[in-house]
Amino acid sequence: MPRVTDPTAPHIALVGATGVVGTTLLRLIEERGFRYRGLDLVASARSAGREVTVEGHSCRVQDVDGFDFAGVDIAFFSAGAGVSRTFVPKAVAQGALVIDNTSAFRMDPGTPLVVPQVNAHVLGTRPESGVVANPNCSTIPLVRLLRPVQERWGIRQVVVSTYQAASGAGYSGVEELRAGARSVLDDPDSAGVTGTFSPSLAFDVIPSIDRLLDDGFTFEEQKMLQESRKILELPHLDVTTTCVRVPVANSHSEAAWIECHEPVDRGELVRLLAGQDEVTVHDLDTVGAFPTPRTAGDPNRVHVGRVRVAAHNPRGFWLWIVADNVRIGAALNALQIAEELTRRGAL
Ligand SMILES: NC(=O)c1ccc[n+]([C@@H]2O[C@H](COP(=O)([O-])OP(=O)(O)OC[C@H]3O[C@@H](n4cnc5c(N)ncnc54)[C@H](OP(=O)(O)O)[C@@H]3O)[C@@H](O)[C@H]2O)c1
Repeated sequence: MPRVTDPTAPHIALVGATGVVGTTLLRLIEERGFRYRGLDLVASARSAGREVTVEGHSCRVQDVDGFDFAGVDIAFFSAGAGVSRTFVPKAVAQGALVIDNTSAFRMDPGTPLVVPQVNAHVLGTRPESGVVANPNCSTIPLVRLLRPVQERWGIRQVVVSTYQAASGAGYSGVEELRAGARSVLDDPDSAGVTGTFSPSLAFDVIPSIDRLLDDGFTFEEQKMLQESRKILELPHLDVTTTCVRVPVANSHSEAAWIECHEPVDRGELVRLLAGQDEVTVHDLDTVGAFPTPRTAGDPNRVHVGRVRVAAHNPRGFWLWIVADNVRIGAALNALQIAEELTRRGAL
């Protein structure tokens, strides 16, 4: 039972508790037996008052506006960057350590940006900002694979195309994909449904995620570059990305070309990746095997397939990567940060 009377266990608050990430975090807390002595579910006025059953007990959702963070040890924020910018400073001032799933503080120099399998060492002490940031959902699986490659062969350049699921845009994204698919199936000339996505995502792909920047890249693409550099502590790492939304309900995929400083042996590469924590290599024994968002299997692991070293340039290779964006890319990573902080007594 995760809820305990132990006074040393943290009191936790989930801001964005009713969203895709928040509800998954709640499920993971139960699944992984994360021990807490108290729990607050927090969202907007829209769902304040709603009753949610947690471990057989009814828990009422509270409005973040006016919520008192005093007595909260860990506050998980998954309610959008604007909500984090407004309420994280208050939570920190009232003594909570914040684990933030949004982009609000990721590049703040006083805020560690953490993927526990890659850079848990930065969690030794409580951060001066009072915030630990959770990286972008496409960055997390990528850096978990880049880290051992960098250590073995050194990385010269990474070129990535992402294939990002509708759930990356929250509940409204999934609902809009479903409604759009029904609309286009009923009438092939239908414009589908827009709102969260534009144009309609059903039966289409959209090569633009988040806002467009002055240099022609999107903010999502910039996040993958800047965050990879910060997590891997490689300020000049060359990562270039095209981020694409695809009509998949859940789990992001990535095609990554990684060029190293030295020739890479495929057998050694496959064994190296398969030896990483919580990574499954699908073509370990069967060359060409691959995961897909619907067939990959265990959602708590990063899935890799189609590992190909280029014959004309053996310093470079391709990976096909699939990872559950809500778990690996957000809720699970955030909870693993909390587990690590608890283990190290850094709360
Ligand atoms: N989905 C992913 O794969 C993913 C991955 C990495 C990071 N993230 C980040 O995690 C955050 C949440 O994403 P999501 O996918 O869970 O979105 P979502 O399904 O749309 O859920 C949003 C949550 O935030 C709450 N919320 C929205 N506006 C609010 C406000 N003004 N004040 C208080 N609460 C508010 C909502 O509460 P109500 O029920 O009251 O509306 C809901 O609980 C976003 O910042 C997103 O970028 C998401």
